[in-house]
Amino acid sequence: IPVEDFDLVIFGGTGDLARRKILPGLFRRFLAGQMPKGARIIGAARSELDDAGYRKMVDEAIGEFGGVDAKRADLDAFLAQLHYITVDARGTDGWSELHDLIRFDLVNAFYFSVAPSLFGDLAERLHDYKIADDDSRIVVEKPFGRDLETAQALNNTLAQHFDETQIYRIDHYLGKETVQNLMAVRFGNLLFEPLWNNHYIDHIQITVAETVGVEGRGAYYDQAGAMRDMVQNHLMQLLCLIAMEAPSVFDADAVRDEKLKVIRALQEPAPHHIVRGQYDASKTAPGYREEAGNPQSHTESFIALRCEIANWRWAGVPFYLRTGKKLKARSSEITVVYKDIGHSIFPGDEKRHRNILRIQLQPNEGMELQVTIKEPGPGGMRLIDVPLDMTFAEALGPDAEDSTDAYERLIMDVIRGNQTLFMRGDEVEAAWRWTDPIIEGWQRRGDVPKLYDQGTTGPEDALMLLHREGRRWQGIKE
Ligand code: BG6
Repeated sequence: IPVEDFDLVIFGGTGDLARRKILPGLFRRFLAGQMPKGARIIGAARSELDDAGYRKMVDEAIGEFGGVDAKRADLDAFLAQLHYITVDARGTDGWSELHDLIRFDLVNAFYFSVAPSLFGDLAERLHDYKIADDDSRIVVEKPFGRDLETAQALNNTLAQHFDETQIYRIDHYLGKETVQNLMAVRFGNLLFEPLWNNHYIDHIQITVAETVGVEGRGAYYDQAGAMRDMVQNHLMQLLCLIAMEAPSVFDADAVRDEKLKVIRALQEPAPHHIVRGQYDASKTAPGYREEAGNPQSHTESFIALRCEIANWRWAGVPFYLRTGKKLKARSSEITVVYKDIGHSIFPGDEKRHRNILRIQLQPNEGMELQVTIKEPGPGGMRLIDVPLDMTFAEALGPDAEDSTDAYERLIMDVIRGNQTLFMRGDEVEAAWRWTDPIIEGWQRRGDVPKLYDQGTTGPEDALMLLHREGRRWQGIKE
């Protein structure tokens, strides 16, 4: 869908996220022909730069993070659409100039790629200097608060100057191709939905495994941990899309209403249903505590938990969530494990056959449905389980190789004014309402995460979480 001309202001336009994700993403959209000639991107930050200096910086950032072999002419054409303005988020410098720059007859959006402590200052100045109007959009990033109270405070701050319909809270997992495909598969086929409940599904697993550690983000991460950094947002969003009822229509509020109901029905896991881990030092690599620069840290770099959703569809079905850093492989997968067939009519067939739907988010996006068939050949009625491969690249050919990054997709949705893949304020608050008591419980009990070796699947106890219920984890392949 083509977009109209726009002015996109990136506060924090010289920062890490802008350089790594936002600007290279916009350039790739430009290459895809989705950036109209009249669109402008305005970097805004404290540094004293002019347009030329900013273009040079962005040129270098695209070289480093763009992931494309771009022609000089394309780069120059894109850079010509960039501007820069020096603003002081807490002062008066630059704001009148920014006002004069904005074209109010076009779509305008303001990306707050800054620390949340500046959200209030920015919102206030956009309002006081009459830079944003009722049609303007603002984009904010996680971390959206660190608990319910801080999230509510942020929501209230933004609400003073902007309506909910103007606020785009990014969770980049919602911009991932397979995450959206999840909705297409669930609600675009007859085959899955009738069985998508506690009568037919034994349990569901969500794994988001990473091989990276905390690297240079120790200061932030040590205050967050895997629960706040990944579960409260990304895993929660995946859980919602897997578990929600069908919205009556695919629009922003209908989808978000259904997601909210899932979060509200999510039960607090019992303490023995949570396993926290921290990666240990190896012979060659520092451990979590060294990387985070906190030798006493009790922050988890891994978490596995079992929770349930208390509603008619899901009562009694365990949802196992797991995420961690420095694990064996980078692999994000949702696995839907159906119940056993119950009774086999085939003599000698002892195995408990069950269908398993594997939804691979990254790498190698795709889906696979395990089905039971007859083993080919004259050996009689011997059954085997085989994967029915729905890997998109194979089915759809090279066109399926969509390299659109989650950020690019989401930024374009902001310009188009489509909030479906953004979190609503009440959703974020509900997610914290579930997260807070769990974290408070650890603090009250002085819970210490279990050490795990780097390059593994996490602490042994996480395996036990399923083993003791006669189940096993499915994800994290090499
Ligand atoms: C971010 C987290 O939101 O998501 C990081 O803060 C994490 O800690 C990242 O590494 C994972 O994103 P992706 O897209 O690489 O799976």
